[in-house]
Amino acid sequence: MPCHDTYIIKLENVSKVFKLDSSYIKALEDLNLSIYNGEFLCIVGPSGCGKSTLLRILAGLEEHTSGNLTIKREPSDKPLNSMVFQGDSLFPWMTVIDNASYGLKMQGVSKKERYEIAGEYLSKMGLEGFEKAYPHQLSGGMRQRVSVARAFASDPEILLMDEPFGSLDEQNKIILQQELLKIWEETRKTTIFVTHSIDEALLLGDRVIVMTTIPGKVKSVIEVNLSRPRDFSEIRSDSTFIALYQKIWRELREEVISDAVKTNL
Ligand SMILES: Nc1ncnc2c1ncn2[C@@H]1O[C@H](COP(=O)(O)OP(=O)(O)O)[C@@H](O)[C@H]1O
Ligand SMILES: [Mg+2]
Repeated sequence: MPCHDTYIIKLENVSKVFKLDSSYIKALEDLNLSIYNGEFLCIVGPSGCGKSTLLRILAGLEEHTSGNLTIKREPSDKPLNSMVFQGDSLFPWMTVIDNASYGLKMQGVSKKERYEIAGEYLSKMGLEGFEKAYPHQLSGGMRQRVSVARAFASDPEILLMDEPFGSLDEQNKIILQQELLKIWEETRKTTIFVTHSIDEALLLGDRVIVMTTIPGKVKSVIEVNLSRPRDFSEIRSDSTFIALYQKIWRELREEVISDAVKTNL
């Protein structure tokens, strides 16, 4: 378990309002959350509740409208964050190794060194032998492995993942989850992982944040007291897992239903 004294990110009453032509959308409202150094934090919430908006704010791609966001970091040459999205985010004209080492290239790392580092992460993700392939020659699961390898290779302080396995089939998803867990357990990088799957959140996370329906805020924070390393096939029958699953589902269900009532679904 990470130490809960050393937060790396603190959000205090963070709100985000999107301005449209003649109206406003309040996506986040008074969101309070601390994220600790070295933790794997999972975020679940009804669709459209502001999860991606929150990650985009943390990535510096979007400004919050009010409240305070503090990100603590030591002086370092490392990038602050790297993000993995659900869909394809590889450059189609670059080989696998060039894609995976792109962040390092941007940091000015020599070709030899960046190929070495990216090559290591590619092989950890089961892609040895595919370094010279192009994205169109790979399956969706393999392309997502390259995105994960690229994110780790650039060695950011914080890893932001927005439903990265959301479009994969069940078997590929399980394999990628296991591979991600293995690399994460070696690196213990602070990771914020958005998912709509409670199973996935409990398999991966140290804590799970349940968000309310839009405007999103933190509804509850659940500590995942399951020992590591975790194995997907074993963990599902663990009584702690089952109890946590039911607790999160109850919380989430309330929000999904209230969202459906609000939007008349
Ligand atoms: N750039 C934007 N401009 C206007 N509205 C946006 C923008 N990005 C997101 N929203 C709105 O903010 C709300 C939250 O969106 P999002 O963060 O994508 O939700 P989630 O990832 O939880 O599904 C939605 O109502 C969405 O339409
Ligand atoms: Mg989203």
